[in-house]
Amino acid sequence: MEKIIDGEKLNIPNHVAIIMDGNGRWAKKRLMPRNFGHKAGAKAIEKVCEDAHELGIKYLTVYAFSTENWKRSVEEVSGIMNILRDYLKTCIERATKNNMRIRIIGDRTALDADIVEKMDELERVTSVCDGLNFTIAINYGGRDELRRSFKKLLEDVNAGKVDKDITEETISCYLDTAGIPDPDLLIRTSGELRLSNYLIWQLAYAEFYFTDCLWPDFDMDELKKAVKYYNGRDRRYGGVK
Ligand code: FPP
Repeated sequence: MEKIIDGEKLNIPNHVAIIMDGNGRWAKKRLMPRNFGHKAGAKAIEKVCEDAHELGIKYLTVYAFSTENWKRSVEEVSGIMNILRDYLKTCIERATKNNMRIRIIGDRTALDADIVEKMDELERVTSVCDGLNFTIAINYGGRDELRRSFKKLLEDVNAGKVDKDITEETISCYLDTAGIPDPDLLIRTSGELRLSNYLIWQLAYAEFYFTDCLWPDFDMDELKKAVKYYNGRDRRYGGVK
């Protein structure tokens, strides 16, 4: 989709994926505990959803908690889980008001029952919304997602429900992101240049944008910078133009 942004005609990426990094450093700069940064990070998510929708982005997927993040201190992990609890509580009202469809990806089996219950409710209630498709990755790891998908796929092949001649489309259908188009643009904040096990299958042809901006400071101006960078890229998907 094309849109005029600040007087410039821009091609808007359909799906933007974000690695929200730098909350800890943002808090440290303010001599505050790490969870203060995560709280500010959760606030930034709310605004970025509105900004993404305003720009015409249809899908936004954020990395909130990875399968590796359990290695952090008990205090930090429980802090993030409580921020998530608060976020999920207020999200139902905000999502229905803004017509946002929420999906959660990742392995829910390790999460507390009350959180899983809220996630299920949020997905159910917003399944009729057709504004921004907002996906939150929680206890998510790309390799773990592939492992879980292959396990399920193997079960279905053995039960004769799926043809043994597996296609790429079959695999995509077994991922947590089934039904969601692949991201066109990946944004990672805070200057780190890694994928950190995020959407490793889905990001195969995405453009990557890295910024030094710390996640809690990420705003509309930063999002526009990323979209402008995306417009300067020549996407060839392995072909020649
Ligand atoms: C990375 O910054 C951030 C995380 C691992 C957690 C992100 C969590 C949130 C934004 C809040 C909870 C999410 C929701 C959906 C409410 P870091 O801690 O690695 O920062 P650092 O690299 O500066 O230490």
